[in-house]
Formats: sequence, structure tokens, C-alpha cells
Amino acid sequence: MEFQHTACLGGGVIGASWAALFLASGRSVALFDPDPAVEGRVRDYIETAWPAMTELGLMTRGTPDAITFHASAAAAVEGAGFVQESVPERLPIKHATFAEIEPALAPDAIIASSASGLTLGQMQPGWADPSRFVLGHPFNPPHLIPLVEVLGNDRTAPGVVEDAQRFYESIGKTTIRLHKEVPGHVANRLQAAIWREAIHLVATGVASVGDVDKAIWSGPGLRWAAMGPTMLFNLGAGEGGLQAFCDHFTDTFNGWWDDLGQVYLTDEVTGQLTEGIASEAGGLSPAELSQKRDAMIVALQKAVAGLR
Ligand SMILES: NC(=O)c1ccc[n+]([C@@H]2O[C@H](COP(=O)([O-])OP(=O)(O)OC[C@H]3O[C@@H](n4cnc5c(N)ncnc54)[C@H](O)[C@@H]3O)[C@@H](O)[C@H]2O)c1
Repeated sequence: MEFQHTACLGGGVIGASWAALFLASGRSVALFDPDPAVEGRVRDYIETAWPAMTELGLMTRGTPDAITFHASAAAAVEGAGFVQESVPERLPIKHATFAEIEPALAPDAIIASSASGLTLGQMQPGWADPSRFVLGHPFNPPHLIPLVEVLGNDRTAPGVVEDAQRFYESIGKTTIRLHKEVPGHVANRLQAAIWREAIHLVATGVASVGDVDKAIWSGPGLRWAAMGPTMLFNLGAGEGGLQAFCDHFTDTFNGWWDDLGQVYLTDEVTGQLTEGIASEAGGLSPAELSQKRDAMIVALQKAVAGLR
């Protein structure tokens, strides 16, 4: 098996989920996190995640016990073929981590950063030689959501991005390749664009927070779980495909784009959203809602398995 031994740096929300997935795929995992409570927390997380990964068929010959906890990042990466870095999103911490692990890495190891906001270019100065360092940005939680955004640049060695993509695909991920660095990568920018207009619709009194959310999950969101927006519009004007769709709807879309809102998260806007979400949550706690969300994500993925 390729990259049989892996390392996870950081065992928080994202690191614990990556560790669970790597274990499920039959890899061993060495983890470092300075929090003394991390071992219990990560072991609990893996135990909770295991049934969902089994249901999704992600389990090959994995065992939850193939994880070890280490006293330093340098000790954790020793002998690892693939290292997933998920330390806090602060540049000095990322840079210090890279400087510490660089001398301890196997020469052919690949190191991928989970960073959501920082770009590869901002993180590369932490390395003397960043040629085997890529972005491998997951969507939370990585053990359930397939997407990983992968990026290298002109300082990345040939083949490293492709090897990272092959590794992720081998553990059940769907990868996309970014050709250029932009803040937020691709998927978070798309989320931000949708959320901006969702907030604008609430702030201008068009609909409630609950109804705007409903408009997504019961409408376009369901279609987007099957296919992307451009492919769906390719199907939106019959046999003429996307050309016919664009010919037909040019003025409509250009007009809507001119009318879309520009919002910022001011205290007033945040207040309106939190008030709306309290009513939408119907008394359920974030933990209860997360459980519900994860159960639906697993069910949706199982339902479409084999159809894609
Ligand atoms: N939370 C998300 O939705 C999400 C999604 C995709 C990517 N990410 C990215 O993943 C990374 C981690 O985010 P998170 O949400 O898991 O944060 P988190 O705060 O939940 O976890 C960070 C963990 O890192 C540990 N830590 C602190 N200093 C460390 C060090 N020097 N070495 C190793 N571990 C250290 C902390 O104890 C903590 O357990 C960030 O770069 C973030 O942008 C987050």
C-alpha cells in the first residue's frame, strides 16, 4: 500500500478527522498535538467516526488502534510517507512546525497543509526546501466530505501534486487541482458567494434565515449534490445544451448579477442572523444538529454510490 505510514500534525477538529480516515484506509498514523488532552479526545473522535466510515465503505482493513501519540512534531513525522498538517491557522505556528520537521522527514515524504485561509506562497517561507509541500485542503469533516483541493506552484517538485492527489483518491477522496493561489481556494469562495446573497436577502427583508436556508437544501442544493452548476445549466434548455441556455438567459443572469447584494458581517447583520438561526434550530444544540447533518450526509452519499 502506498504511504503505509502517515503522520497528522494537530489533532483538533480537522486533524482528528484526517487521522480517523487514514486509519480506516488501513494506514498507521503518528500524531502530534501539544494539548495534553489530545489522546483521549482523538481516540473518542475515531470511535464516534468509525461507524459512519464503515457505512460509507471507506473501511478497507483499517484498525482504530494503529495510532500513536508523540511528544514532538519531529518525532511524529519520522518514517512517515505522507504528512497532513492541521495545526492552528496562524502563520508563525505553521512556519515553526515546518522548520522543526524538515530535518526529520524522509526524503520522499509528501507534506500537505489543511490550511483554509493561508496560501501556499505564504506558508512556503517556513521551509528551506518547499519542493515536497502542497496544499491539501479538506472540507469539514474530512472523513465524511469527499472534496480535497490540491495545489502546488513553481517551487513544488514535478509529480508531487499528482502523487498527493493519487494518495487522497486512494482513500476515497475526490480531488480538484488548483492552478493558481487565491484566498479561500475554490469551494470556500463559492460558499462565501452564496452566503453573501443569502445574508443580503435576509438583511433586506426578502425572507427569513430559515426560509433562505430551506431554499438551498430543498432546491438547488439537492441538485448541486448531484452535479455542478454549469453542468446543471447545460441540462436546463433541452437539447441545445449550455449554448441554448446562455442564449436564452443572458439578459436575465446579467440583470440578476447587477442586482446581487454586497454585505459585510457587521454586528447588526450578525445579530439578525443569530436571532434567525435560534428560531431555525428549534431548540436543538449544535452537537445535536451536527449529528443530524452527518447522518444525512452519510445517507446521501450512500444513496448515490455507484451512480456517479
Ligand atoms: N475547521 C474547519 O472547518 C476547517 C476546514 C478545512 C481546513 N481547516 C484548516 O485546518 C487547520 C486546523 O484547523 P482546526 O479547525 O482543526 O483547528 P483546531 O483549533 O480545532 O485544532 C488545532 C489543533 O492544533 C493543536 N496545536 C496547537 N499548536 C500546535 C503545534 N505547534 N503543533 C501541532 N498541533 C498544534 C491544538 O492543540 C489543536 O488541537 C487550519 O489550518 C484550518 O484552516 C479547518
